[in-house]
Amino acid sequence: MPQFKSSLGMMALTVGSAMAALDSCSSNSSLSCHGSSKTPTCCFQYPGGALLQTQFWDSDPATGPTDSWTIHGLWPDNCDGTYQASCDSARAYTNITDILKSQGRSELLTYMNKYWVSDDGSDESFWEHEWSKHGTCLNTIKPSCYSNYQPQEEVGQFFQKVVDLFKGLDTYTALSNAGITPDSSKTYDLADIQNALSKIHSGVTAYVGCESDSMDEVYYFFNVRGNVIDGTYQPTAPLEKSNCPSSGIKYTPKSGSSN
Ligand SMILES: *[C@@H]1O[C@H](CO)[C@@H](O)[C@H](O)[C@H]1NC(C)=O
Ligand SMILES: *[C@@H]1O[C@H](CO)[C@@H](O)[C@H](O)[C@H]1NC(C)=O
Repeated sequence: MPQFKSSLGMMALTVGSAMAALDSCSSNSSLSCHGSSKTPTCCFQYPGGALLQTQFWDSDPATGPTDSWTIHGLWPDNCDGTYQASCDSARAYTNITDILKSQGRSELLTYMNKYWVSDDGSDESFWEHEWSKHGTCLNTIKPSCYSNYQPQEEVGQFFQKVVDLFKGLDTYTALSNAGITPDSSKTYDLADIQNALSKIHSGVTAYVGCESDSMDEVYYFFNVRGNVIDGTYQPTAPLEKSNCPSSGIKYTPKSGSSN
């Protein structure tokens, strides 16, 4: 009897999770930031149609592995450089770690603990900030876009998607393949950095940010066809001009990093 009961339980779980799903979008959905539609739908990211996968190079204090950039987030920007923020206070969760655990996403959490780290506070509060400020503005993963919505389902999908995008955008390796490595005795040209980044972004470059002539941020811009989870991401040129000098850019080693 216990065996029978537990297999019934398994069945219910399988059926339940198969039914809880983000509604699928047609492959001919319009590309965000294109066309004349001004109507947000579950298959059209609007007005935040420019999606930025943002990364840090934190050398002081150093965070994350010495041979990797780290994750900042995934930001929906309007197609003109402005952006919406903090779009739904009812979903500004303060238990991201618990949500991910409850969804069985422990592998994702392990990855985030290594690559999605804060340089000035707890990782949990950094993740809360990224979700509530930017994630809640993603109209294509609103709860109403799901069949048989399970609370916070979109939160787990958001964090997994950001990590998946980041894994495909290995800034450290792209730069080092072009001979651009952290070295306190060298400086680099912006054009060489941008050219190296374009090799992992379908030939279009990314935004490079500097502080005191030291490179510390990269933003990869995309448009998306369909929703932000299952949709097709198309690399696109940055909407912002780099604030780095055209030459003499420093790339400081993370010498103090403990990871
Ligand atoms: C997309 O495809 C569907 C079904 O194949 C079709 O009914 C619809 O008109 C198409 N939409 C656009 C915008 O081309
Ligand atoms: C997270 O917080 C929300 C809002 O307070 C709550 O509804 C939900 O049950 C919590 N989830 C977990 C896994 O603790």
